[in-house]
Amino acid sequence: MTLQHERLSTTSLAWSPNWEDVFDSVGQNRPLVVEIGFGYGQMLLYLAHTRPHANILGIEVASKPLATMESRLRRNQLHHVRVMYGYAEALLSHLLEPGSVSEFHVNFPDPWFKTSHQHRRLMKRRTLDYIASRLRVGGRLYLATDIEAYAQMSHALLRATPTLTNEFETAWVNHYPDRARTKYEQKALQEGRTIHYFVYQRNTHPALDLPVIKESPMPHLVFRTDGNLDTIYHAFQREQFAHPEASIYIAMLDVYQNPNSLLFEIHIKEETIEQHVAVLLVRRKDDPSEWVLKLSMLGHPRITHGVHKAVSHLAEIVQRSVPITILHNKLLGYDETLSA
Ligand SMILES: C[S@@+](CC[C@H](N)C(=O)[O-])C[C@H]1O[C@@H](n2cnc3c(N)ncnc32)[C@H](O)[C@@H]1O
Repeated sequence: MTLQHERLSTTSLAWSPNWEDVFDSVGQNRPLVVEIGFGYGQMLLYLAHTRPHANILGIEVASKPLATMESRLRRNQLHHVRVMYGYAEALLSHLLEPGSVSEFHVNFPDPWFKTSHQHRRLMKRRTLDYIASRLRVGGRLYLATDIEAYAQMSHALLRATPTLTNEFETAWVNHYPDRARTKYEQKALQEGRTIHYFVYQRNTHPALDLPVIKESPMPHLVFRTDGNLDTIYHAFQREQFAHPEASIYIAMLDVYQNPNSLLFEIHIKEETIEQHVAVLLVRRKDDPSEWVLKLSMLGHPRITHGVHKAVSHLAEIVQRSVPITILHNKLLGYDETLSA
């Protein structure tokens, strides 16, 4: 059970959590309804009032709307509604099981039309595949946008999703009275813009195989060396690089030295999560000729492929700077046979 006042985030909950536990509704088998990017929460409150027997989850990346909703929910004692900090992409791939959601609501997603920003767009193939996979059969995706080009692009993506069926005979409708008006919607209407509403239902077509992406095992490397810490310290360089095959970006930021340890500061950006982590190189107390390279649990990092790639990169730096004998290698995909 989580405390109702505790802030939920995609990194504070297990991958994947028991949602009945999170909502304190164990045994009640409540449907799960999710709103992505709820802003100032008009739709979330509408969902709370129209779906009293569901668990309603809102996810938002902006802190001001999040804090506003948190205090509003506390004041109104709406125990079946929870809000969460994080990117929808992380919620979809790490925290929601396939077939576990009854409704998704997406209202006025940011368009991100510049080519260099397109990867941030919510409506894209990968994210829509996850949304479709997380819906239970019969569940619905509700989407609204006031931007014609975004509507056209969403229509093309939705039409190419065999697991979703359009509820309308047209690509979208421009009037959908049976819903709350969000803040952004009110502004768009006042300014004379047309709204495009989509409702798609999850059909019985077999879903894509998109299991929850769980955490990886703890990364670490144990080795023996007579080399000295100074040499490794000086071999470290500030640098940034990408692992294109997995869309991972790593920035090696800094290194700090103590008599018996080094602490490396690293930023890791992956498709679903961005983390600032610390990695330690420490001398073993029981055998001072043995060293351990391991992730520090400072800041409660999630152990992802990106974290393994970053620790492996440090292992490479160590291995190139001093002669080592590897005793245990728990780094995913780390090739110990480096050419000198
Ligand atoms: C244009 S505003 C619309 C807000 C609200 N839905 C409304 O209609 O008034 C888009 C909202 O989505 C949030 N957002 C954008 N990308 C997101 C993502 N990947 N995950 C969660 N929230 C996101 C933004 O912080 C912003 O509050």
